[in-house]
Amino acid sequence: MKTLLIVYHSMTGGTLQMANAAAESAAAAESALHVSLLRAADASAAHVLGADGYVFATPENLAAMSGQMKDFFDRTYYAALERLNGRPYAALICAGSDGRNAAEQIARIATGWRLRPIADPLIVCTHAQTPEEILRPKRISAMHLQQCAQLGATLAAGIVMGIF
Ligand SMILES: Cc1cc2nc3c(=O)[nH]c(=O)nc-3n(C[C@H](O)[C@H](O)[C@H](O)COP(=O)(O)O)c2cc1C
Repeated sequence: MKTLLIVYHSMTGGTLQMANAAAESAAAAESALHVSLLRAADASAAHVLGADGYVFATPENLAAMSGQMKDFFDRTYYAALERLNGRPYAALICAGSDGRNAAEQIARIATGWRLRPIADPLIVCTHAQTPEEILRPKRISAMHLQQCAQLGATLAAGIVMGIF
């Protein structure tokens, strides 16, 4: 059975909702696919090597992917280098107002791994600007969750059918 690995970090819940939406729709779309949803802190190089496709989901913090997401890539990058070539991936970014730097960082790492993006990074802005808003639990809109779900289902179908 093929595996879709979804690695995420989330501090105030927005990225988690996005990753959950992608995971649930991927599992619903393809019963012949194992969907593994892991916190970045729990994901290892073995998980990366054992998967057939990936979703990387992170907040943008301080104009970068979150520290825990970076730690995941730091721990796994060289162990997986040259061993993932051509596998598909998608990126989900939860941002207050921007998100482009986190997306760019993930794209550069994925390029190093020779992964293939199946879509542009999906950036969802929560419009959190003040300290209070930044620290408040996030609620991602149904429209944005639907976009995450579509990405998950598309990636799942492509992996199972061998399109990607
Ligand atoms: C320390 C910190 C720095 C942040 N820096 C940025 C930033 O550079 N750009 C941006 O668009 N949002 C920034 N944000 C806002 C978060 O991306 C936003 O709150 C997002 O919803 C967090 O995702 P989460 O709910 O999954 O934790 C920052 C948040 C924190 C806590």
